[in-house]
Amino acid sequence: MTTTTALSLHLNGEPFAGVVDNRTTLLDLLREHAGLTGAKKGCDHGQCGACTVLWGDRRVNSCLLLAVAVDGAHITTVEGLADGEELHPVQRTFVEHDAFQCGFCTPGQLCSAVAAITEARAGWPSAVTPPQAPDPPEVPHRPDVRSRSPRPVELTGAEVRERMSGNLCRCGAYPHIVDAVREAAR
Ligand code: FES
Ligand code: FES
Repeated sequence: MTTTTALSLHLNGEPFAGVVDNRTTLLDLLREHAGLTGAKKGCDHGQCGACTVLWGDRRVNSCLLLAVAVDGAHITTVEGLADGEELHPVQRTFVEHDAFQCGFCTPGQLCSAVAAITEARAGWPSAVTPPQAPDPPEVPHRPDVRSRSPRPVELTGAEVRERMSGNLCRCGAYPHIVDAVREAAR
């Protein structure tokens, strides 16, 4: 039985190829094989968000994905957000708003924020997005998060808190993170 797989993908725009044990997660591929240690291993169980990276425009918990599942994909890690010496707007607002303390969760927060802004701009609702058309009063509001609005969703504080709720910060930098994400979105 084959226990290893040859794969190739794009990491931060650069081609990467290697042979990995089939059980290797994307997080371990990044950290142990590609030398990209920005994404952090917090829980290794999909619960903290410290390992968040971008698969195209979508955010994923890299500890939950097998590397073989992303063969051929374009993956962006925190190391790929800046444009040379120019910080990504989300990185800049995190610095300006003092949105971190120890910094362990920050790479995941940054990648998650980039995708959250993209999702809201594309009109994807969250669980707290008000309905476009009012529901009848007898129907409790349950937004259909699969339905895309033709208009961007404004990133209010409640929207940012909901959309970033998969990224935990044990230092409790949440108020400043919300401010930083909202300013970057603007
Ligand atoms: Fe992946 Fe915690 S390390 S969610
Ligand atoms: Fe320390 Fe978030 S800044 S865990």
